[in-house]
Amino acid sequence: MMNMNKTEKYENLLPQIQAVMDENVDIIANMANMAAMLHETFGFWWTGFYRVIGNELVLGPFQGPLACTRIPYGRGVCGTAWKERKTIVVPDVEQFPGHIACSSASRSEIVVPVFQNGEIIAVLDIDSASLNTFDETDAECLEQLVRMF
Ligand code: SME
Repeated sequence: MMNMNKTEKYENLLPQIQAVMDENVDIIANMANMAAMLHETFGFWWTGFYRVIGNELVLGPFQGPLACTRIPYGRGVCGTAWKERKTIVVPDVEQFPGHIACSSASRSEIVVPVFQNGEIIAVLDIDSASLNTFDETDAECLEQLVRMF
């Protein structure tokens, strides 16, 4: 695993995550395992979900240091991905207007909306302690992953 490049890691990980997704339990349990497996494979700084509850995002299952519990619609990277209904890759969080710094160690970020029946029900948020961690490969592979819900 350590010698694999990013694409190979995703190719290896996707079927493993698919295998542990359990349609007989609620989405929170499946989000928890997905966050854990992504986090461990890539060694990200923070990996987790915010769920849409009413008019805000509420912290869901995650791995990493503590995080803010609520994010309003349109705020931060997460709230912007929700509003714009698309994946957002942030190479340098200091250059993203309105970025919400839950941790000063976070340097780059990707947020991927989770759709169910055409509606956004959550976002997958991943933070890296290095600049420029995420690219189109991450966007495509993570979008594929969250379609499992
Ligand atoms: N940085 C995010 C907030 C969540 S934490 O990174 C875990 C944002 O700007 O939406």
